[in-house]
Amino acid sequence: MNKDCVIVYESIYNGNTEKLARSMAHTLGCHLIKPKEALNTDLSQYKAIGFGSGIYFGCHHPSILEVVNKLDRTEQHVFIFSSRGAPVLRNYHEPLKKALIEKRKKVVSEFSVRGYDETGPWVIIGGGNVGKPNEKDLKKATKFLHKSFPQYCMPDYYQNVTTRLPVKENFVHKYTHIVNEKPVILTGDLVTINHNACLGCGKCKEICPLKVIELIDHKAVPVNELDCTLCRLCEINCHERAISLHYSWIDAIKVAIRHGKRKSL
Ligand SMILES: Cc1cc2nc3c(=O)[nH]c(=O)nc-3n(C[C@H](O)[C@H](O)[C@H](O)COP(=O)(O)O)c2cc1C
Repeated sequence: MNKDCVIVYESIYNGNTEKLARSMAHTLGCHLIKPKEALNTDLSQYKAIGFGSGIYFGCHHPSILEVVNKLDRTEQHVFIFSSRGAPVLRNYHEPLKKALIEKRKKVVSEFSVRGYDETGPWVIIGGGNVGKPNEKDLKKATKFLHKSFPQYCMPDYYQNVTTRLPVKENFVHKYTHIVNEKPVILTGDLVTINHNACLGCGKCKEICPLKVIELIDHKAVPVNELDCTLCRLCEINCHERAISLHYSWIDAIKVAIRHGKRKSL
């Protein structure tokens, strides 16, 4: 878990901002809290904080501003995010930005997506921004964080493995990667598990529909990688961000070939 960052968010309408906030928290590997909890948390302990909500009447939710107004004047990196109904952002972030600057926070970057909206004129056409934020928006959010907050994003050590091996039936590759003179143990290629981060909670094992993961010596191990359908449930639900999937279009085709004739789970 990334203890350097936290995200404070509110999402009162369609859960649009919640979807975005969850994805961002996943990229950073950090906690996600609501304003009520934030008011009872010492936010000065974090090096970086994300603040976001839907846009309601031209600005963020008042509870986000309430949290910011109660911050102390510690210098911290912050980012602002939102989901909105309007096609363009206009100056919707300005009140929050102003409040953060008054508290001596360094607003590093801002991000906004369009979110499903059925208020006002949108109701005539059955709602605007249908399906948003979608996967494409969430990928943009990930890119945004990697660009503006690279030092706070969860690293994917598998990218540094130079001697990757092809996935084999009933065999899991184990790699040792050295980070700051300490070994980081990784198992698996398609489904890679960082054993330094894994707490052995077993959530990934429980959630995987294809039973790809087993717990061995209190660590998750992808014992059956070739069965992985790339659904990403394990990756998304790992609070420690210990799991990352690595695949090419060939692997995606192989999923269809392997499971094409299946009639049930
Ligand atoms: C009461 C209300 C007021 C809104 N005002 C605005 C607005 O001023 N500008 C805008 O772009 N969208 C506005 N919207 C649309 C929301 O910002 C948009 O649907 C957003 O994605 C909602 O986020 P949420 O589902 O996380 O609450 C408003 C929505 C509601 C319910």
